[in-house]
Amino acid sequence: MLSANHSPARWRTALLAVILLAAGSVAASKPSGGGHGGARAAAGRKVYMSKCAVCHKDNGAGHSYLGPKANLRSPGVQRQTDAQLVAIIKSGNPPMPAWDGVLTTDQIQSVVRFIRTFNAMAKK
Ligand code: HEC
Repeated sequence: MLSANHSPARWRTALLAVILLAAGSVAASKPSGGGHGGARAAAGRKVYMSKCAVCHKDNGAGHSYLGPKANLRSPGVQRQTDAQLVAIIKSGNPPMPAWDGVLTTDQIQSVVRFIRTFNAMAKK
């Protein structure tokens, strides 16, 4: 009796949890800006959080004591082409370290895709 009353509700809860999880993972795999390069941006996010966020902060704004050019959300950075950003990240710009040889070109391109998501956020 008791279990007959309870199990439909429990199943509904379980089903809802599955639906929410599925919806969450779909949302997470969608690119946050542009509509392309979502998987790349996700890979780039991992690299960014481990190598770049220490100076550029999680949101890309950069620590203010590092100067305005460390703000990856700024038009000055975002207006540059992917190729330009890849080149800058490879060669560095003191105190910004050079990443050539530390990260692969593929990883750097992924990071650039992730940096583009800051642009979408900054536009609001
Ligand atoms: C030790 C701190 C530090 C780390 C770590 C760091 N950066 Fe920077 N980055 C800076 C600073 C400082 C600047 C501004 C340099 C300047 O004033 O010219 C900068 C500038 C930049 C710029 C803009 C360059 C320009 O002139 O437009 C990009 C893009 C960038 N960093 C990407 C990255 C990426 C990607 C990573 C991780 C792979 C990273 N940075 C890691 C400190 C850092």
